[in-house]
Amino acid sequence: MNKKYFINTYGCQMNVHESEKLAGVLKNLGYEEALAESEADVIIFNTCCIREGAEQRIFGNIGALKKQKQQNPNLIVAVCGCMSQQKGIADTIKAKFPFVNVVLGTHNIHKFEEYLLNNINSHKKVYDVWDKEQQIVENSPIYRTSKNNAWVNINYGCNNFCTYCIVPYVRGRERSRKPEDIIAEVTELVNSKNYKTITLLGQNVNSYGSDFGADNINFAKLLQELCRIEGDFRLRFLTSHPKDLSDEVIDVIANNYKISKNIHLPVQSGSTNILKSMNRSYTAEHYIKLVDKIRAKIKNVTLTTDILVGFPGETDKDFENTINLIKYCKFINLYAFMFSKRKGTPAEKMDNQVPAEIKRKRVNEVLAAAKQISKNANEEFLGKTVEVFDSHTDWGKLVEFEEWGAPPANSFVNVQITKVTAKKLIGKIT
Ligand code: 5AD
Ligand code: SF4
Repeated sequence: MNKKYFINTYGCQMNVHESEKLAGVLKNLGYEEALAESEADVIIFNTCCIREGAEQRIFGNIGALKKQKQQNPNLIVAVCGCMSQQKGIADTIKAKFPFVNVVLGTHNIHKFEEYLLNNINSHKKVYDVWDKEQQIVENSPIYRTSKNNAWVNINYGCNNFCTYCIVPYVRGRERSRKPEDIIAEVTELVNSKNYKTITLLGQNVNSYGSDFGADNINFAKLLQELCRIEGDFRLRFLTSHPKDLSDEVIDVIANNYKISKNIHLPVQSGSTNILKSMNRSYTAEHYIKLVDKIRAKIKNVTLTTDILVGFPGETDKDFENTINLIKYCKFINLYAFMFSKRKGTPAEKMDNQVPAEIKRKRVNEVLAAAKQISKNANEEFLGKTVEVFDSHTDWGKLVEFEEWGAPPANSFVNVQITKVTAKKLIGKIT
């Protein structure tokens, strides 16, 4: 019988995709995917450290494996990803969870197969975390688990050093994949594997290519190249930085039907003072002007965002500005987070930390405002035509069809909205 693996993935889409690469390695070695952790011979924790809550949950879940490991001493437990990349975490794991077999960081993830086989053959534990980012490794096997959507990395790392954020410390400096490698991957996904949605991934996709030092390639040009690939598919991308989203990119989105009209554009705060202290490199006014420009140029665009409340020094007035900005921008969806101190970041040491109960109150206010906007936004779609794939709009809203029978499978249809409820849009295919 084949051995089985189980991967616990925490955090963002970058990690979800990295887990597909770990699964690719394991499949190549002859492992099967286990349906439950209890059936697995290899268990991986692909970790996140963006907020303290994530770390606590992961430690709890690793600890919970102690019993399974006692019952099955051959069980292999591996921990990788952003949390294990942080200084001192490998030692903590060693001390607290001595049963863990393999620990590696983000910069040596390509060594996973070697470390796993070493551990299987020699029974020696492998703890190896590298300090520095490496050159991009191409052609890793990928076992894709997302149904219609395929994730494609375009750049890794981040140079922005927002003062609250741990990512630049655990993911290293920005490195872009070569355009020809990205184009080849997307072409294969669309033409040979019939994927209909491709999501390009990077911490800041808008700065794609800036590390090449040549001006013949940038994110706008990459998007344009990808739109030339034959076939009916849609391109999405995560995540954009408001300081780098150029007019050229906006024009390319506006002019290509193959690019999704839903843009995720994290604002974090509506207070210019707080944005400055966060080192976001834009003002609230810049963001609002950018949103106005996007709405003027891109027909039927929808925007989503991330909001970070309770950053050190955030006053009631600052927070009010955030609520006002959210209302002005009419985000169709948003993700709201309470600031969480991250070791080694500048914000960890800042004065005027905001008490937990105020953070909680503010996050709830943001969510209430978002709910109201989304309700009104639904109503604004009455009479409009939206593109639907697999019963969802490109911002993830459920769409029900008035007619009997299902719409054509695996294709994009235009739907005129005739009714709306809080949860869904209802309409007819045009
Ligand atoms: N605390 C809370 N939220 C954070 N984010 C990043 N760092 C922190 C932190 N220290 C949020 C930001 C970012 C999203 C991915 O996570 O809003 O856009
Ligand atoms: Fe973190 Fe800022 Fe980089 Fe985003 S742009 S990953 S928030 S440092």
